[in-house]
Amino acid sequence: MPTVTEALNTMDYGPAPESPAIATEWLARGPFGHFINGAFTKPGDTFDTVNPATGAVLAQVTQGTADDIAAAVKAARKAQPRWEKLPGHARARHLYALARLMQKRERLFAVLEVLDNGKPIREARDIDVPLAVRHFYHHAGWAELIGDEFPGMVPHGVCGQIIPWNFPLLMLAWKIAPALAAGNAVVLKPAEYTPLSALLFAQLCHEAGLPKGVVNIVTGDGDTGAALVAADVDKIAFTGSTEVGRRIRQATAGRGKALTLELGGKSPFIVFAGADLDAAVEGVVDAIWFNQGEVCCAGSRLLVQESVAVPFAERLKARMARLRLGDPLDKSTDIGAVVHPVQMARIREIVAQAVAQGADLYQPGTVEGNFCPPALLTGLGAANVAMQEEIFGPVVAMMTFRTPAEAVALANNTRYGLAASVWSENITTALDMAAQVRAGVVWINGTNLFDANAPFGGMRESGFGREGGRAGMLAYLRNPAVTGKPRTPPPALSALPGDAGPAGIDRTHKLYIGGAQKRADGGHSYAAQGTQFPLGGRKDIRNAVEAAHKAARWGTTTGHNRAQVLFFIAENMAARRDDLAAMSSDAEAEAAVARVFYWAAWADKQDGRVHATRASHLTLALTEAHGVMGLICPDESPLLGFVSTVMPAIALGNRVVAVPAQAAPRAALEMCRVLDSSDVPGGVVNVITGPRTDLARCLAQHDDVAALWVFADAATCTLAEHESAGNLKSVWSECRARDWHGNEGKDGEFLHRSVQVKTVWVPYGA
Ligand code: NAI
Repeated sequence: MPTVTEALNTMDYGPAPESPAIATEWLARGPFGHFINGAFTKPGDTFDTVNPATGAVLAQVTQGTADDIAAAVKAARKAQPRWEKLPGHARARHLYALARLMQKRERLFAVLEVLDNGKPIREARDIDVPLAVRHFYHHAGWAELIGDEFPGMVPHGVCGQIIPWNFPLLMLAWKIAPALAAGNAVVLKPAEYTPLSALLFAQLCHEAGLPKGVVNIVTGDGDTGAALVAADVDKIAFTGSTEVGRRIRQATAGRGKALTLELGGKSPFIVFAGADLDAAVEGVVDAIWFNQGEVCCAGSRLLVQESVAVPFAERLKARMARLRLGDPLDKSTDIGAVVHPVQMARIREIVAQAVAQGADLYQPGTVEGNFCPPALLTGLGAANVAMQEEIFGPVVAMMTFRTPAEAVALANNTRYGLAASVWSENITTALDMAAQVRAGVVWINGTNLFDANAPFGGMRESGFGREGGRAGMLAYLRNPAVTGKPRTPPPALSALPGDAGPAGIDRTHKLYIGGAQKRADGGHSYAAQGTQFPLGGRKDIRNAVEAAHKAARWGTTTGHNRAQVLFFIAENMAARRDDLAAMSSDAEAEAAVARVFYWAAWADKQDGRVHATRASHLTLALTEAHGVMGLICPDESPLLGFVSTVMPAIALGNRVVAVPAQAAPRAALEMCRVLDSSDVPGGVVNVITGPRTDLARCLAQHDDVAALWVFADAATCTLAEHESAGNLKSVWSECRARDWHGNEGKDGEFLHRSVQVKTVWVPYGA
């Protein structure tokens, strides 16, 4: 024990360990079975869960089998209808009871999480557990309000939820609280490295008197997860690696399951010369070294404006040298243990590769066991592995930039789009960056801010769907299913040679690309509606996507401008009403004009929201267009179906590549003439006629198509979902015919599916 004078001289921390006793006592309940139908099952084949800081075995948990999953899904299936039928108020009381019980066990949860995951107690105690509790309170509120706030919407039913090891309890709360509030029952599989806090939560479900089967927890590894994906569930919500996310996308294709994916990230942390550099250094500490860098949204690409790069790196290094690495249970530890030796090996490997590719490594301290000192990589290029691959360790790679434009280019030079952190005291610079960075969450002069009422989730290969707030609730609700007949597959098309078509056939029809009429690339056509239409193919899709990208200004123009254009389209359609009616019917032509008016009305009204989250912040949930969308328009009502899919998408700022009804494309091509005379900028709407299934495949596979709607037969829907796994675009597919004349033709889903939420955190009133 140092004397007071010595302590004052060294200003060092003394040990301040939290006792593990509370958790070790609880662990004596093991070995653990699953939690199914309100009770723990007998343990089956078990595996060890280990304390990564010491290597000590904490408990044995059961490796879930397909039968275990089936039993859990069966229990959930049985419990769900009654749970859904409970008044929202009754569900709210259950969620509130869970929140209260969790709050009473906060210390146990925190210590257990530290033992199982290796994260510092400060983080588990001050961030993870209180946020998890907050999620249950927040969603108790949503359960209460659901009838008022989401009228007409219904839960999915049984949700399979798979979570990773980096925030075991918090991820559980993010998944279970909204699902339950919305009236779903769940089967959750925690990560194999960190199953314990989920088992403690299961015990609380029992203690809280939650109806049996509403929450089921099945432990196990990736095979157990795969069994859950394959099981009879109505929705899968997954957080984890992009690679597994892709596999889940493929496995669920065509199975009619709703899907949300929260995947990896390689988030930029951008520091401008005008930033408060000390605050930004602390930001890096929070963003990268927080939780040993095991945060999917960690700002692991540090982009610093050249003029301040040297002093910034110096301050950073000074701070790194003083970060405390060690016993995760010690309250003054900054960096704890990496979750597992496998993860540690991965970190070492990527750092070694980065150095081999020319990076300089600064890492005070030595790598020992599962402890990885903070690391800074400098002198690397944008192609270096440390700039491209998710590391999931306390490692940051730093590059410099000169101009804001270069910062944007570097920031967006990634397959991912989860989060970004922007540091500048200049509000114009900061907000301009927020607008341009492609990420689901942007923090200005801050980082890693989370709240139950703030939507969180990614774009591009970081996945789709949001968790938190209103957008998060929508992910656990749906509009009542469309009940029309299943669509039938389109007939196979035979290509007619372009110039050698039968004499006398009207050959005036063309594709519509970039505002101009084009022949199909191969020059072929196909017969439909008594005439010939161009047989579009992959090259035509490519050209159309390119043209749509060039029309990017459509996305940044005002909603008012877009509304005017849409109103003008409606006016011109009305002028050609008889032509349009001749291709459809009087009723359809009338309805189509009205539908354009309807979406014109929305063009300047799909507002974002300002969410109430934490003090001193504005949390803006902005609704951003996806960018370029692919649309497979329905067969039924070829004119109205085309208008009903194209108009909401463009009203909200997207540019589209649309494939009209294969057997009746004439009305859509007639609409292109209307668009031409209605001030629609070239490239905003592109129309490719031809074989629907093949064109859907091309759109699904195209990396520059950000979202896809498929109103087609089941086989085409399945194919599109499967093939979208490449860039993980969000796909909305529906294989039953809609009644486009009624409310089904314009329900809220079109609005919701035309945009994605970008959450921007701005300091306010601090
Ligand atoms: P992972 O994606 O394999 O595991 C996440 C969860 O998915 C676990 O519960 C796991 O059991 C389950 N799982 C694994 N294979 C599955 C399958 N085929 N079907 C269904 N579920 C399956 O992640 P892992 O292996 O733990 O970590 C690998 C890398 O993934 C990390 O180094 C990191 O880069 C990234 N990662 C990203 C996370 C994020 O929050 N975005 C979280 C965890 C890991």
